[in-house]
Parts: sequence; C-alpha cells; structure tokens
Amino acid sequence: MTISIVRTVAELRKTVAAWRAEGLKVAVVPTMGALHEGHLSLVRTALERADRVIVTLFVNPRQFNSAADLAAYPRTENEDAAKLAPLGAHILYVPDGAQMYPEGFATTISVAGVSEGLCGAFRPGHFDGVATVVAKLFLQTGADFALFGEKDFQQLQVVCRLARDLDIPIEIIACPTVREADGLAMSSRNVRLSQEERRLAPRLPDILFAAGERLTAGEPVQDVLAEARQAFLAAGYGKVEYLELRAEEDLAPLAVADRPARLLVAAWLGETRLIDNVGVRPRDAGVTASAVAA
Ligand code: PAJ
Repeated sequence: MTISIVRTVAELRKTVAAWRAEGLKVAVVPTMGALHEGHLSLVRTALERADRVIVTLFVNPRQFNSAADLAAYPRTENEDAAKLAPLGAHILYVPDGAQMYPEGFATTISVAGVSEGLCGAFRPGHFDGVATVVAKLFLQTGADFALFGEKDFQQLQVVCRLARDLDIPIEIIACPTVREADGLAMSSRNVRLSQEERRLAPRLPDILFAAGERLTAGEPVQDVLAEARQAFLAAGYGKVEYLELRAEEDLAPLAVADRPARLLVAAWLGETRLIDNVGVRPRDAGVTASAVAA
C-alpha cells in the first residue's frame, strides 16, 4: 500500500471536499513525526473510527522553547511514510513553514486555565504554539475526529478546551499511553537517552505507578508526593520539574484524592526531559461516580 503525501492546504482541502461529497468520515492524527508505536496506535484507532485518515507531520517551531531542541528534533519523513502506508492511512500531510505560517502571520491562540501550571509553567508559550497549530490543522483538514494521546495529558485537555471554546465541530478521541516492555512511555525524544540513561528511564513509570496506587488506596497526598520526589532523585533523575495530582476533568490541583484524577510528572534524566502520567481512581470517588451514573 502507498500513502499520498500532500504538502499544501489547497490540495488537502480539495481531497477532503471530494471525500465529504461521498459522505465519508475523516479523522486527523496530528504529529511531529519520528513515528513510533504510540503514534501508530492513534492511527489504528482513527482507522476504526473514520473512513479516511490524515496523519499530519509538522515540527512546529512555535511550540519549542529552545532553538537547540527544535534543531535536534528527529526528522524522518520517509521512514514515517513507510510506517503509515501498511496500516492503510490515506494521507500524510506535510506542510512546510511557509504553508503554516506565511509572511505576515499574526494570530496566536491561547487557552487559559488548563494551559497554566505543569508543563505550562516550565515551557512558556509552549501551549500557545500547540493550540495555534492544532486549531489550524483542525480547520485545514475539516476532520470529524482528531486523535490525541494521554501521554501528553495536559495537551489533550488544552485541545479539548480549544475545540469546545471555538465551536470547532470535531470530536477529540483520547488514546491510552503506549509503553515499551519495561514501562517507559514511548516518545520521539527517547532516542536521545544514553545507554545508561535508558536503563534508568523506566524507574520513572515504576515510581509514578507505585505512587498512583498509594493515592488510589487513600494515603495522604502530600506524603506520597514527597516520597515519590525523593525516589526519583534517588533513582538518578537530576531534577523533578513537577509531580502533581490534578483533577482529570479540568486539571484543578487536588490536595485530596477525592475524585478521578491524574498524577503527572516531568523530570530530567541528563539532558532529556521526560513526562508521564497515570490515572488515579480513588475507590470512594469511583463509588460516587457510578452511583450518580446509575
Ligand atoms: P507528537 O509528540 O509527535 O505526538 C503526536 C501525538 O502522539 C500526540 O497526541 C501524543 O500525545 C501522541 N503520543 C506520543 N507518544 C505517545 C505514546 N507513547 N502513547 C500514546 N500516544 C502518544 O504532541 C505533538 O506531537 C504535538 O504537540 C502536536 C499535537 C502534533 C502539535 O504540534
């Protein structure tokens, strides 16, 4: 199977208009390329939900905080296309900088609330860059569905808020984090880890999951978080940017695990920043939720 590579908004719109005329449903999977199994799981889910699937590949300069990080970001278009074709994805949309941000481009989309804190506190402007490019991709593709990974949980919340606030008629589908056999969340940045760092990396999900279980069991939030922070440092992580319990629905900070929540972490291993998160479903909150649902 082959996949069509589309590089311009005009050609993309023409193809999508023809699909729409046939009554076909369209899904978009936004990516920055260097595709791994995490991305491919989104594409597979997209193919189950829609008749046509557009994967986008754009390394978006507006969401990077440093020129060095942007320059170091892996760019593997041919390999990406070769991974997508056998799955049956229909279009790989690869706009260049001038397509996305033509001369005179002056609009920034900023999502308050869910963008603040967590990664937003450590990566100024990052979520403005994400929100702006994602809004453009939604409008350029006119897709019915968009798929995002829970790996980037705050991003997922930003994108949901954005679509709702701007009345973009698109359904956001959240997909679970895909992990390596040792538990490390797949990420395009994992290739930057040295051999020794790669060996230490799975301690992040180990410690995170253990802390998540203690919170689920009702242990005090402050104690669990303080001990987990220490455990990250003891495991060889240089700096823990944040380790926080937030409400799953709106990312409100939680001092008590009294509703469905996420425990989110960002920590540095050498020169690489890793993020991860895990769901925390306090037993009592679960009972209340199902009682309300019933
Ligand atoms: P990127 O990091 O390439 O990720 C693209 C999509 O793949 C995101 O929705 C992300 O959450 C998902 N993803 C990454 N690793 C995953 C994993 N291990 N399991 C499940 N899903 C995973 O996120 C971006 O690109 C950009 O910010 C983007 C949304 C494309 C805007 O530029």
